[in-house]
Amino acid sequence: MTASFIRPDVRRIAGYTPGEQPQESGWIKLNTNENPYPPSPRVVAALREAVEGRLNIYPDPLARRFAAKAGELFGLDPDWVLPANGSDENLTILMRTFVDPGELIAYPYPSYILYETLADLQGAAHERLPLREDWSWDHAAVRNVIERAKLVFVPNPNSPSGNRWSDDDLLKLVPPRGVLVVDEAYGDFCDSPHRGELLRAAGGERIVLTRTLSKSYSLAGVRMGFAVARPELIAEMRKVKDSYNCDSLSLAAGLAALDDQGWMQEHAGRIRRTRARLTARLRELGFAVVDSQANFVWATRADGRHREIYEDLKARRVLVRYMHFPDARAGGGSVDGLRITVGTDAEIDRLLEALSEILASATDS
Ligand SMILES: Cc1ncc(COP(=O)(O)O)c(C=O)c1O
Repeated sequence: MTASFIRPDVRRIAGYTPGEQPQESGWIKLNTNENPYPPSPRVVAALREAVEGRLNIYPDPLARRFAAKAGELFGLDPDWVLPANGSDENLTILMRTFVDPGELIAYPYPSYILYETLADLQGAAHERLPLREDWSWDHAAVRNVIERAKLVFVPNPNSPSGNRWSDDDLLKLVPPRGVLVVDEAYGDFCDSPHRGELLRAAGGERIVLTRTLSKSYSLAGVRMGFAVARPELIAEMRKVKDSYNCDSLSLAAGLAALDDQGWMQEHAGRIRRTRARLTARLRELGFAVVDSQANFVWATRADGRHREIYEDLKARRVLVRYMHFPDARAGGGSVDGLRITVGTDAEIDRLLEALSEILASATDS
């Protein structure tokens, strides 16, 4: 009965389902792209200090110190930065700032399905932009949708594939009557670092970049991210956020994490090295693996046994992400595969050992 009080846009959708988060220990957890390494020791010290500080007082609603630090890393003034409770909050703020009910958002498919859930909640329409089988863009095929879209969301590097598209590709995706959101959740894992160059390109005035501290700074448990764009856009987005969207502890941790670039770079480098080893070994085991610029790899097999392998790994307490994207190909074909987070070397050794056993027992039977 109470269902009749619920907005139809909410009632009609299933809601976004995040990856499994087992709360007990003993798992090799390679399913939600967390960083396997702890955050900088400076983060722990800053948190301790913040806990002993003034928790009875509201935090700075504009998160000015954090915005100044994040801006500095991009060579930009603080008014180019909107700090938020993780990237996901900035994605919600973007939707609420730019998209009226009935307007269109678009995003590549397969990619991050949350964009679609957020559009549903806003009463907006969404269209999926098909990619070629090698994950490249067919710009002529998507132009018609881009021309009608208010917001286009593009994760770069993409998830689940891990590939990174060029700035030229991205500039072609800026909608003529809207804004391109480049979701750079995995940007720090790219071989060549980039920080805001796109915003300075012709067309960059209608681009918003989003970054998170969940991945490269090992702070998924804290919830801290930020958007970077021209101050005119950021000022409007700021009106939409909650007054105190970043709490004192997240701000203290986030600031200390950004302040320790050496720690972040060292661990991102480790992850890149483990990623290369994982990719090579998975290929030897018969998987096709996309060259990844992120902290995960997308692995598929010609025999299509992805779900089975996921289950067999889970039985050995190794958790990877089985992903299935219906209607991802022209003509209606689906795409599925395994998205595997790059863990520590020891975790990846365990995964590879388990995979070798699973594949050997499949050959025997
Ligand atoms: C493409 C992409 N964007 C955003 C996020 C969410 O980041 P956050 O933890 O900052 O909300 C994720 C998390 O997995 C992601 O894969």
